[in-house]
Amino acid sequence: MPFEYIKKENVYKYLSEGKWLFSNSNKTIDLKSISNEDLGKLQNISRKEIDEMLKYAKSAQKKWYNLPMNKRAEILVKASYLLEKNKDILAELLIKEIGKPKSLALNEVVRTAKLIRSTAEEGLRLNGEIIESESEYGKDKSKKAFVSRAPLGVILAISPFNYPINLSVSKIAPALISGNSVVIKPSLQGAISVIHICELFLEAGIPPGVLNLATGKSSEIGDYLVSHELIDMIAFTGSTEVGKRIAKLAGMKPLLFELGGKDATLILEDADIDLAVKECIHGAFSYSGQRCTAVKRIIVSEKIADNFVKKFSNEAKTLKIGKPEDDSFISPLINKEASDYIQELVDDAYKNGAKKIMCDARKNNLWGPSIFDNVNEKCRLYHEEQFGPLVPIIRFKTEEEGITHVNNSDYGLQCSIFTKNIEKAFKIANRLDVGTVQINGKSDRSPDIFPFSCTKSSGMGTQGIKYSIEAMTRIKSVVLNFN
Ligand code: NAP
Ligand code: G3H
Repeated sequence: MPFEYIKKENVYKYLSEGKWLFSNSNKTIDLKSISNEDLGKLQNISRKEIDEMLKYAKSAQKKWYNLPMNKRAEILVKASYLLEKNKDILAELLIKEIGKPKSLALNEVVRTAKLIRSTAEEGLRLNGEIIESESEYGKDKSKKAFVSRAPLGVILAISPFNYPINLSVSKIAPALISGNSVVIKPSLQGAISVIHICELFLEAGIPPGVLNLATGKSSEIGDYLVSHELIDMIAFTGSTEVGKRIAKLAGMKPLLFELGGKDATLILEDADIDLAVKECIHGAFSYSGQRCTAVKRIIVSEKIADNFVKKFSNEAKTLKIGKPEDDSFISPLINKEASDYIQELVDDAYKNGAKKIMCDARKNNLWGPSIFDNVNEKCRLYHEEQFGPLVPIIRFKTEEEGITHVNNSDYGLQCSIFTKNIEKAFKIANRLDVGTVQINGKSDRSPDIFPFSCTKSSGMGTQGIKYSIEAMTRIKSVVLNFN
């Protein structure tokens, strides 16, 4: 029976020392689905329980690292197949907990299973090198450095609500394959999915204390965890605001941060408009725009803007809006605060002279696809990350002006360029201050083997399987001295 240990009568446990436990704090947190149905209770663990968890994780890590790489890889591969086997249960949880439309929920699980297998393969390719040199001190003396990668120790992984499975595992799997132990702190909304994932890793054979799960209110355990002396590195995905707070508290710990975005799509005069429309529809509206890589600004040449806006809004009108269970393209936002925030941006856009193309009346947390044209620098929507199905259109006269708009942002995750002139696309790509440029496709983190990097307030460091393994290890040399 899978998942029999993780809860009792809908009260979910936390994971420490390889055991599913109730907290001695006797405090729990009520969890609701996005349609406000009761989903159960979560442990609000105490600081003492965090101390015990980390002490055990520290010693468990040493044994785990002593296990040969191929053995660690075997366990990960087994976990990946368990994810696939349980994909319907996991997708059902994503639908309820975070309102992810059914097909996207299934996609998140299957994509994550693939990510785990690729991580195991990458681990098997983690080779060192041998460097030889004469000594700088003393003739006829030589040195040989045996250079390899060593784990950092205990990795704290903090994941956001929007991809609880993928963005937890994209930290857990590279940390584990490289011999670290992990404490995962999921978002409250999404925590049940992550609890299930942890149980599957245990079932696959992860030894006690190597994977731990801390649940609780961020206001109570967040600062304590990120500043804890037994944490050796923090891998965080979430908002820029929380990222900045963690960076202040983390001291000398290495950080790997994926934060907010305001991804632009630059559509040049010679673009294939139908392709740009199709990609922008998916980019701006799928999962209601709640993706770090959602299309959050459309910057279009004024020569084709009228045609683009007409086709784009006509297509937007055809999107299915409603429940995630029905696989609607657009489903309710994660909570009331997120929906109120969209309202603020909309009100501000009207006030500052943007032109409404479509903006369906809000029904609680559900918004139809919303488009504003002629959005200018005075509008908050020009600058701020909306995280909802609302998209600004900004028109430019010259390509130079278009490029300036793209770079005029505090964020720097991705940018797309639509043009038939590939040489020009590469030239413009070199001038864009972002981590990744997509040519003739929407902004996209996947496939997970690609590097995912960023500039400015969008984070620090590079994710992606191979790059995350590098970030979660350090170079270690053993030098042989000989004559
Ligand atoms: P969030 O509010 O920043 O929360 C992210 C995680 O941090 C959650 O687990 C949250 O837990 C936790 N947290 C909050 N305060 C904390 C503290 N003081 N100490 C430690 N942990 C703390 O972000 P979100 O609303 O879940 O996700 C949306 C944001 O994430 C957007 O800005 C989006 O762009 C960004 N994101 C970025 C990427 C990327 O790859 N760049 C990918 C996905 C999402 P609680 O739930 O308990 O508050
Ligand atoms: O929200 C951030 C996710 O990492 C987005 O992933 O671009 O592959 O949908 P994706």
